[in-house]
Amino acid sequence: MTTLTKLALGMMGALRPKPATGRSTKSIALPPPVKQGGLPLMEALGRRQSSRDFARKPLPLPVLSNLLWAACGINRDDGGRTAPSALNAQEIDVFVALSFGAYRYDAATHALHLVAASDLRGVTGYQDFVDEAPLDLVYVADHGRMGLVPVAQRESFASAAAGAIAQNVYLFAAGAGLATVIRAWIDRAAISDALGLTHDQQVLLAQTVGYPKKNS
Ligand SMILES: Cc1cc2nc3c(=O)[nH]c(=O)nc-3n(C[C@H](O)[C@H](O)[C@H](O)COP(=O)(O)O)c2cc1C
Repeated sequence: MTTLTKLALGMMGALRPKPATGRSTKSIALPPPVKQGGLPLMEALGRRQSSRDFARKPLPLPVLSNLLWAACGINRDDGGRTAPSALNAQEIDVFVALSFGAYRYDAATHALHLVAASDLRGVTGYQDFVDEAPLDLVYVADHGRMGLVPVAQRESFASAAAGAIAQNVYLFAAGAGLATVIRAWIDRAAISDALGLTHDQQVLLAQTVGYPKKNS
């Protein structure tokens, strides 16, 4: 769908998910992430960039597993995560939109849990590439977990935490030869509806990930 069509549908409140392609299993146990090797950090920083040309090729499950662990997985025995959060509130949930369903990443079990048995990639933003790239991540703040943070600062702290997760994804992508772009040009109400979010949950940002298009 073109960006213009998506904008028009968004204005009418009609940006909706498509039927899922493939079977939406209730939960997906991710294989253990590989925590060794990869590109040295300084080289990954040297390659970090935003890309908007994605091949349709799906991401294999081990790649998705490594990516989500890099994003905000548990990296310590005390439950600490790869990304920081104010007062360790760990308030950001990562939702994972795939052609066969939308899932919430559960860091504790390193698994995906189904939240919508539909293809809602197209709902995650106005730009046309989001529909067909294999993966759109959505970063959602759960204000229910931010009780210790003053109300006036919750949104900015949560946005900072989401930004840290996004940069982890950028660096993982740089190391794994993937393309990615963080996105704020999104229809938050449409995404919230499609994911069935509560009033406590606030959609902050989205991020597309996939293999780079060969000819770009
Ligand atoms: C908060 C934020 C929101 C952004 N929103 C979008 C967006 O909606 N769409 C998009 O294509 N790029 C978006 N970007 C990516 C920027 O355009 C990109 O980072 C910038 O052009 C610099 O390019 P680089 O990331 O390759 O260094 C966003 C970046 C940030 C930090």
